[in-house]
Amino acid sequence: MIQENIDITRRHTFGIATRARAWADYSSVDELRILLQEAHKQQWAYMPIGEGSNLLFVKNYEGLLLHSAIKSLNVTTSLNNEVLVQAGSGWIWDDFVAYCVAQGWYGVENLSYIPGTVGASAVQNVGAYGVEACDVIESVTLLATDTLKECTIKASDCGYGYRTSHFKGDWKGMYIVTAVTFRLSTTPHYTLDYGNLHQWVGDTPTLQGVRNAVIEIRRKKLPEPHELGSAGSFFVNPVISREHYSKLQEKHPDIPCYEIDEQRVKVPAAWLIDRLKWKGKSLGGAMVYPEQPLVIVNTGNAKAGHVVQLAQDIAFSVLMEFGIAITPEVNYIY
Ligand code: EPU
Repeated sequence: MIQENIDITRRHTFGIATRARAWADYSSVDELRILLQEAHKQQWAYMPIGEGSNLLFVKNYEGLLLHSAIKSLNVTTSLNNEVLVQAGSGWIWDDFVAYCVAQGWYGVENLSYIPGTVGASAVQNVGAYGVEACDVIESVTLLATDTLKECTIKASDCGYGYRTSHFKGDWKGMYIVTAVTFRLSTTPHYTLDYGNLHQWVGDTPTLQGVRNAVIEIRRKKLPEPHELGSAGSFFVNPVISREHYSKLQEKHPDIPCYEIDEQRVKVPAAWLIDRLKWKGKSLGGAMVYPEQPLVIVNTGNAKAGHVVQLAQDIAFSVLMEFGIAITPEVNYIY
């Protein structure tokens, strides 16, 4: 099951030339157990990987990459206009979304065309167009990496927040997601208030229509991973105090924000970066994507160092001008 000394350049969406000590695909929880036992025995570092769409390998990976090919699908309940559907962690996220839309299940259509896997969606709490994965996740099924026992944790206990969860924080390394259960609706129910999504969809929305609109918007704004390497949004949108925001408005009256709570607002990092004229600027093979400056792309021969340096330069300039420390959304892997 284990392939050693492997080229993983095409196994992560940045497409930066990288090798890994070992790679293994597993298609069941039992296979994952065997791989973890082996990694423990060999004292190898290990890490789960999906499509590698949110990773920046800063150097070659000196451990075992564990790639889920668990593609189970179980509809566990279908009651009160709701379905509980459990999908294996190895499902390609957008294949899962397409399947749900084809079944007439509402809830994940705004998350169409996001690169990655079902397993990663529950770790990263992927989000787009006013919906986050945690809005529809019911529970997450996991394998504990120390005891090798399976457990299921309710979404409300997973520490979900904007692009975050306990799996990325306090519980990092403790579990590997094996399946995710989603609570979806069988009655029409749309979330169209983000940006101009409503305009794209029109006044008579359909489930497939929303999916098509989201795909069209994403295609226009974001690079296609197989055409131009990237890891999607490079930074998270920063949350700042209203006081800080009011001060910024004195100099930048048009600075946009999204409401968070009485004390805080979220500012689009894309606007901050755009304002500082980073669009299209490059460093070595790394470039700020001209259509969406929150994205750094690999124009062909980027080295991780180019991306790291460009990201640092952007973050530094944002800090100097706006007093805001923007942080990477992308996981740096050493
Ligand atoms: N903006 C500019 N210039 C630009 C682009 C955007 O000023 O060239 C400003 C505009 O004010 C715009 C705002 O930024 O209204 C927001 O832009 P956009 O709607 O494209 O969204 P975003 O905040 O940049 C986030 C997610 C995306 C997700 C979109 C849509 C994060 C880190 N990123 O981007 O997610 O697709 O919203 O919901 O939250 C990802 O995580 O990889 C990702 C692509």
